[in-house]
Amino acid sequence: MQEFYAEASRRLAAITGISEADILPVLQRPPKPGMGEIGFPCFSLAKEQKISPPQVAQELAGKIQTGAPFAEIKQVGPYLNFFLSQTALAENSVGRILPAPENWWRSDAGKDKTVVIDYSSPNIAKPLGVHHIRSTMLGAALCRLYAARGWRVVAVNHLGDWGTNFGQLMVSYKRAEADNPNVPVDIDALLKLYVKFHADAEHDETLNDEARNWFKKLEDGDSEAVRLWKVFVEESLKGLKNLYQRLNVSFDHYTGESFFNDKMEETAARIAARNLLTKSDGAQVVDLEKYDMPPCLIKKSDGATTYATRDLAAAEYRQREYGFAKCLYVVANQQELHFRQVFQTLELMGYDWASGCEHVKFGMLSFGKGVFGDGNVTGSTRKGNVIFLEDVLDRAVAQAKEIISENARDDEIKRDLDALAEQVGVGAIVFSEFLQRRMKDVTFTWEKALNLHGDSGPYLQYTHARLSSLKGRFGRELPQEINYARLASESERAVMLALSGFSGALDRALAENEPSIVAEYLLELCSVFNRMFTDKENHRIVSEDEELSAARVALVEAVRLTLAEGLRLLGLEAPVKM
Ligand code: ARG
Repeated sequence: MQEFYAEASRRLAAITGISEADILPVLQRPPKPGMGEIGFPCFSLAKEQKISPPQVAQELAGKIQTGAPFAEIKQVGPYLNFFLSQTALAENSVGRILPAPENWWRSDAGKDKTVVIDYSSPNIAKPLGVHHIRSTMLGAALCRLYAARGWRVVAVNHLGDWGTNFGQLMVSYKRAEADNPNVPVDIDALLKLYVKFHADAEHDETLNDEARNWFKKLEDGDSEAVRLWKVFVEESLKGLKNLYQRLNVSFDHYTGESFFNDKMEETAARIAARNLLTKSDGAQVVDLEKYDMPPCLIKKSDGATTYATRDLAAAEYRQREYGFAKCLYVVANQQELHFRQVFQTLELMGYDWASGCEHVKFGMLSFGKGVFGDGNVTGSTRKGNVIFLEDVLDRAVAQAKEIISENARDDEIKRDLDALAEQVGVGAIVFSEFLQRRMKDVTFTWEKALNLHGDSGPYLQYTHARLSSLKGRFGRELPQEINYARLASESERAVMLALSGFSGALDRALAENEPSIVAEYLLELCSVFNRMFTDKENHRIVSEDEELSAARVALVEAVRLTLAEGLRLLGLEAPVKM
């Protein structure tokens, strides 16, 4: 669609004296089908010329250059509206999609540019809590969106793999080992050790000192402490990667906090060399009062580095290694101050690339009461009462299985039930992440997430499966030449128009780092398609009319391809049967 908007601006610029750049943003989509595809509001021109907006529109209609890609340009109320020709609409939708199913939606807008995307980045040595799904799915979708626009994407998992909690695990482990030399250390066992530590420490104060000691040993490179730390990290990663696989998520680098242990001294030295370090109660800080922020803590009074120091070192490292134009941090809203401090400090360090760093923040995920356990999502891991992502996925898959088997008429579906349930159950959870703008808090309910007829992942997947079977009903390959002029009804035009908006939706999603725009687009596409499809009288896809059937099946296939691609970008599978 963008090219048509550009063309309309060009023609309007020629007759109004307003620049194309000023016209483009005011162009809008008319509210109803049958009113054309692009509208130019005439209110401000009317004010200037002291005549009514419809009169302006009338005059412009008389002057504007006509012809392809527009069939008609005419006044509609206070607007000048552009009606795309059937050929232009078809060529820009079905006609473009079918010949290049793999890449019609790609662009190279990001060519030669690198974006680093820091996402998921959980604190490890305990299973992933359900709230981690937010950063994980938003980040993964952004990776795919940037790649679709030709960027080089570096996906980074900034694991929280260093901290006193490892000392606590070591204490618990050592105590367990005294009773049984083969202490299990898989991710579930680690959680038990962690919970046990906190239960024991309630009665025995000395355990906390012991934990600090073990962490100190780790920092000093003590061989037993380092050995245990490595085992804990490795086991956590195993559990983590299993989950990532279920979610279709992967990373180029797992450079966690520990990776920067030997890089922070130099970072601190560079900050000092810029005369940015000041002492405050024995700690070393960067004063940010001028920017209305509390100081950025670089070294605590005992010399220990901080979360911020690590992020500063990590940003320098990423710029050095990857030469990013953008570095996105997909992290909860609560850390907004932290990132403002870090970015401001980078700027004070003289890095002009600091302006490419961006905190892609998001709101909270909550479960209604009784939706899962006691509904407590971000409860305390220490007490063992947090909801784990894996449990939520398993439960979603179990429910999806029930729903699918209730509806399944097909032996093939029954045979593939487990695989299908996994796709749909996980898809339900994943899509819930994209139902609203990321800054909005999410309240999860099973009814919404699994509703086959509502705004849900399973609804889109189900539509995809239906589209796949429609094509099957045609029973043969589509002919080379398709007469798109046959797709002439208002509802078919609406589908083509929706299709031609896909690429623009991806651009907007990327400009705002907002994958929910893609989700919104897909729901709209399906509803426009279903409107056509439910009008069965006039829109039987396959009929005796060969030429018409071919054109309609082509349209169905174009919708299917677009839907499949959109689902992929968001991290959902597109089943062909359901
Ligand atoms: N591990 C942190 C947490 O769970 C998130 C890390 C985000 N990334 C970063 N570069 N700080 O809160």
